[in-house]
Amino acid sequence: MTEKESNDINEEENNGPLLIEQLEGNGITSSDIKKLKADGYHTVEAVAYTPRRQLMVVKGISEAKAEKISLEAAKLVPLGFTTASEFHSRRSDLICLTTGSKQLDTLLGGGIETGSITEVFGEFRTGKSQLCHTLAVTCQLPIDMGGGEGKCLYIDTEGTFRPNRLVSIAQRYGLEPNDCLDNVAYARAYNAEHQLNLLNLSAQMMAESRFSLLIVDSIMSLYRTDYAGRGELSARQTSVAKFMRTLQRLADEFGIAVVITNQVVAQVDGMSSMYNPDPKKPIGGNIIAHSSTTRLSFKKGRAETRICKIYDSPCLPESECVFAIYEDGIGDPKVEEE
Ligand SMILES: Nc1ncnc2c1ncn2[C@@H]1O[C@H](COP(=O)(O)OP(=O)(O)OP(=O)(O)O)[C@@H](O)[C@H]1O
Ligand SMILES: [Mg+2]
Repeated sequence: MTEKESNDINEEENNGPLLIEQLEGNGITSSDIKKLKADGYHTVEAVAYTPRRQLMVVKGISEAKAEKISLEAAKLVPLGFTTASEFHSRRSDLICLTTGSKQLDTLLGGGIETGSITEVFGEFRTGKSQLCHTLAVTCQLPIDMGGGEGKCLYIDTEGTFRPNRLVSIAQRYGLEPNDCLDNVAYARAYNAEHQLNLLNLSAQMMAESRFSLLIVDSIMSLYRTDYAGRGELSARQTSVAKFMRTLQRLADEFGIAVVITNQVVAQVDGMSSMYNPDPKKPIGGNIIAHSSTTRLSFKKGRAETRICKIYDSPCLPESECVFAIYEDGIGDPKVEEE
């Protein structure tokens, strides 16, 4: 590790999240802290980024207390303006996680960005879950190898997580397979409410040790089954919005990369199908569309190859590239197939 890299890491530790216990004192008691933690707030950042009226609904927290907590948190966490140049230098410190494919990393401007939500959508067998498995390993790598030097949290809603896939990917990167598996915290979500509860548990684990990636594979499937009726659409979207807000808060709070996968449905609105020969769109409507920072569309290519297209990004042009799925994870297509 070079001197600069080790400085970067030290710096990162200094800038890491502040544990919620630091709020104690000044009229905030340890019992208040306990109540906040029970509701999923484990860091000062979590409290500082949350609207006051939302703190008021924490069990046992009064209006006056919520105000006090907000004020104290704001003293510790910068919430005001910064200059664009300072913001720029902070952004250039942002770590990207390698996808395993050089071409895909290049398309993404370095890889999967930390501190924001990346959505990957596409039809079945397009490699969404395979990418998740690869990232669960690469996020553990040293930063100079394209990693995030942290653990992975994997929320599986479809039961398609396969630890043996991680073993072959770990071997490719020279990681000890058992250590690699130990660094992946896995949970199967059984219903939409459970899916949200798991995020609250995640916050606690992230406050205790260094994570660099949170995966939700896939985001909408349980909402689709739990809110199946026509009349339930608005309740469903409210619930999805809450889940996405919590995801974004975790990304901000802990500087982790968040990767969600999504299914597609045939697009029914008339005109678009005239211009688009394959009119498929991701589900979840505006809520998912607006809360994912970067949206990637996966399509099948020949044999093991797949095509990734940037569908929506604040800073990347709409373009595409080809990658491939192998036994040892996502990679570049073999030359003769290009
Ligand atoms: N060990 C492996 N080696 C090579 N290719 C593999 C391996 N395991 C799975 N694949 C390929 O990965 C593809 C499945 O990809 P994946 O499970 O990521 O799809 P998905 O996009 O998550 O689909 P779904 O929407 O059904 O969840 C299959 O086409 C399969 O050929
Ligand atoms: Mg899948």
